[in-house]
Amino acid sequence: MTNLLDTARQWVITKHPNQSEHLLRSEYWLGQFAPDAPLSVQLATLTHDMERAFPGDDAPSQKNMRTANDTAYAIAHGRRSARFVAEWLTEQAADESFIHAVSELIVVHELGGWPEANKVQAADSISFLEVNAPLFAGWIPTSYNGWTYERTHEKFIWMYERITVTAARALATPLFETAMREIEAARPG
Ligand SMILES: [Fe+2]
Ligand SMILES: [Fe+2]
Repeated sequence: MTNLLDTARQWVITKHPNQSEHLLRSEYWLGQFAPDAPLSVQLATLTHDMERAFPGDDAPSQKNMRTANDTAYAIAHGRRSARFVAEWLTEQAADESFIHAVSELIVVHELGGWPEANKVQAADSISFLEVNAPLFAGWIPTSYNGWTYERTHEKFIWMYERITVTAARALATPLFETAMREIEAARPG
């Protein structure tokens, strides 16, 4: 299975070009604070948002979220990503127990819950603050997709504060501070 990560990177880049940077940087940041993380954690981190590459009637919409950290959305999004990643891993002839481990981590990637899940969540948060936050800041002036200053502010704080891995929090802090400055600069009136 030594080439599985390489194959997964290619899948992410070709299937989900819009968010491949976020996913690849998540994997990078995991390597920075948890270099010994097992392959299941690396694979889950690299592919955690893949459902967004597969539009469909069952895709959860962020437009319907009541708050920036809507639990119902987080679970639906995690479960749907786990489904597509499990299908892909089955095509790669991965072990059933490995597929199960990766799926469990992806289901809870927004929420964490145990040490390995918390690592996936933390890597996602760091990459969000680095890669996605500037995009969100750019949406504030027009409230694109409902992303007002208030909702964006709430999301950034949630993405930072949910990090429970100490070493990851330290890496996230300067990125969080930059992201918060960017939304203050974009704040209307
Ligand atoms: Fe996600
Ligand atoms: Fe993500």
